[in-house]
Amino acid sequence: MSALRPKPRPGVLDIEAYVPGESSAPGAAKVFKLSSNETPLGPSPRVVAAYQAAASHLQDYPDGSAIKLREAIGRAFGLDPDRIVCGAGSDDLLHLLAHTFLVDGDEAIYTKHGFLIYPIVTLGAGATPVVAPETNYIADVDVILGKVTGKTKIVFLANPNNPTGTCLSFDEVKRLHRGLPGNVLLVLDAAYAEYVRRNDYEAGIELVATSENVVMCRTFSKIHGLASLRLGWMFGPASVVDAINRMRGPFNVSGAAIAAGIAAIEDIEHQERSREHNTRWIEWLTREIGQLGLEVTPSVANFVLIHFPDVKGRSAKEANAFLMERGLILRQTTVYKLPNALRMSVGTEEANRLVVAALKEFLAKTA
Ligand SMILES: Cc1ncc(COP(=O)(O)O)c(C=O)c1O
Repeated sequence: MSALRPKPRPGVLDIEAYVPGESSAPGAAKVFKLSSNETPLGPSPRVVAAYQAAASHLQDYPDGSAIKLREAIGRAFGLDPDRIVCGAGSDDLLHLLAHTFLVDGDEAIYTKHGFLIYPIVTLGAGATPVVAPETNYIADVDVILGKVTGKTKIVFLANPNNPTGTCLSFDEVKRLHRGLPGNVLLVLDAAYAEYVRRNDYEAGIELVATSENVVMCRTFSKIHGLASLRLGWMFGPASVVDAINRMRGPFNVSGAAIAAGIAAIEDIEHQERSREHNTRWIEWLTREIGQLGLEVTPSVANFVLIHFPDVKGRSAKEANAFLMERGLILRQTTVYKLPNALRMSVGTEEANRLVVAALKEFLAKTA
């Protein structure tokens, strides 16, 4: 056997592979998966019908440019379809952005408790991830700008952020953009935009439309309930869209995803139902969990970050084990540099009530 063997490019073996939220709780009679910010309402029935109809022509390649889906998104948001690119989840688009705009030795900035994919795609592109500390679990514009060097090529900002659930106002995002050199791409990852009820928030459309170095990524995995199908989209300047279209797989979005995506974006009532459910229950969860004496970071998204004391018998790790035994699967956030917290997706009424009751029992047991 030869002593030589294929070697991945520098950076690849520094990647800590993405750890998804748990999806099974062995031994529990009924399981509630609240670990990946999926919607408890599922997709719209119209989407399921469109998906099933797509099964009748699986032998055909999909339209590689996903034009009908881009037109439907364009109609929904008042955007030029030529400035939209669809991807197999927004993860696909984040990978493409990194591989298209970073070269070896470049730097990409993301915030301390930012989404885990950013360092992965940065290292995968041979560049260096640079961490900007947050203030009270919120991205800090001045700190981010202080990290910019001549090597910076991308700033990733999840707005709202996962797993903290916090967001920056549009004024703050504009201030961040103003402080960046024109050759730095600002990636606004707005996976949870649909849930935000703050009137000082803007997902990114306006900034993309008025600048040459901002893109906005969106997903069908959250409010549209299509996480399993893998579908996302981005809106960007013509030059960025042109570069990404050269790089992406020619059929990176399946025919079933295109059909389901069109039905999803057009079903406004379903989106509104999901939003209302979320608003009602996120307020309830924040209040009820807070009343148990646990700190909850105020969230504008569809999940809450619950902080536990670093005390034996009351820690996040022990709470997680206690909840798991009862079939309640939350997300441990140690990999997000939050070892004393758990992230919980807003679930059905039944799931939400069960978590609060179980947390009460957990805290009473250890008091
Ligand atoms: C902030 C953020 N961006 C992007 C994604 C990826 O979503 P998708 O399923 O579209 O790849 C997630 C998923 O959890 C997320 O939290």
